[in-house]
Amino acid sequence: MKTKDKVLELLLKNQNTSISGEALAKECSVSRAAIWKAVNSLREIGYDIQGTTNGGYILPDSCDLFSEELTKKYLNEHFQEFSTSHIECFSQIDSTNTYAKKMLSEASSLRDENGELTEDGKKYHNSMFIAESQTNGRGRLGRTFVSPQKTGVYQSVIVAPKGGISQPATLTASSAVAVCRVLKHLYNIDAKIKWINDIFCNGKKICGILTEGFANFETGMIEAAIIGIGINVRKNDSLPPEVAKIAGSIEECNPEVKINRCELAANICGETLKILQEDITAVMKEYKSLSFIIGKEITVHPVINNNEKDYKATVIDINEKAELVVQKTDNSIVNLSSGEVSLRSALI
Ligand code: BTN
Repeated sequence: MKTKDKVLELLLKNQNTSISGEALAKECSVSRAAIWKAVNSLREIGYDIQGTTNGGYILPDSCDLFSEELTKKYLNEHFQEFSTSHIECFSQIDSTNTYAKKMLSEASSLRDENGELTEDGKKYHNSMFIAESQTNGRGRLGRTFVSPQKTGVYQSVIVAPKGGISQPATLTASSAVAVCRVLKHLYNIDAKIKWINDIFCNGKKICGILTEGFANFETGMIEAAIIGIGINVRKNDSLPPEVAKIAGSIEECNPEVKINRCELAANICGETLKILQEDITAVMKEYKSLSFIIGKEITVHPVINNNEKDYKATVIDINEKAELVVQKTDNSIVNLSSGEVSLRSALI
């Protein structure tokens, strides 16, 4: 391990505590001058390492910085099994989903004919891509997802389960539950879900999820899914008016909390990967309990059949396939998949 990496590891392990240059030098078996050089190169890449009066160094835990090392550190706290995953962090990118897709298109199949992970599969299954801002963030149904610097966090995970993906909507639904769990655990926020992919708090949208499939043309299977999650951390005063009208943020939901975006991103990625291994029946039950549109009257906007007009219906259930079960005004009951409709109005 390079001195720089070892120093970072030691500072991260002892975050918010001063470590003397001498102790660092001893631990790394190098001179104090080498420690000084390593600290400076870490500062150059953005780590806010502060010097203390007694010649020590300290990495404050308010350090709102993204790096693979920090992400691993936070994963290690609750999601150890994913701390060895492939992780890439970006200060700016067009879209983490687009980037993840590009990685998959350049890779070979992720699973072999026996369903076992290939070398590329081992690399990309459970991988994470995290960005501080996106220049071309994408939302559902071809919409733009505004992703400015400093006020949000944008992440995608890739999963390639054995046997492929047969119920893509449940991935979005499970991820929504994962986000709600993290918001509760880290910030004591009781967020709610608007089917299928929006997370709300205090009547404002604070998070959106876009799940995209990656097909293997030879087998015809959806081999992998890219689950993209964008979350508003702080209020952004420069949002376009139509976005500002509905957008909220974590900080506005609980102004007391101190948010470390890298910790948040690591927890969201970790919880999303973890929840996908849980029993889907139990997860969908949790999804339903977090959903605020059951029992409400909504306006359904068909997106596949353009000739079909918007209609009113009452939500009576969300089933195990993450379909919305609604009763129309003529009392007929229909199951709606998220690819078919969007909800025009839901009383929040
Ligand atoms: C929506 O609200 O319609 C879904 C928004 C999904 C945004 C996330 S941010 C990370 C990932 N990259 C993207 O371009 N989109 C998703």
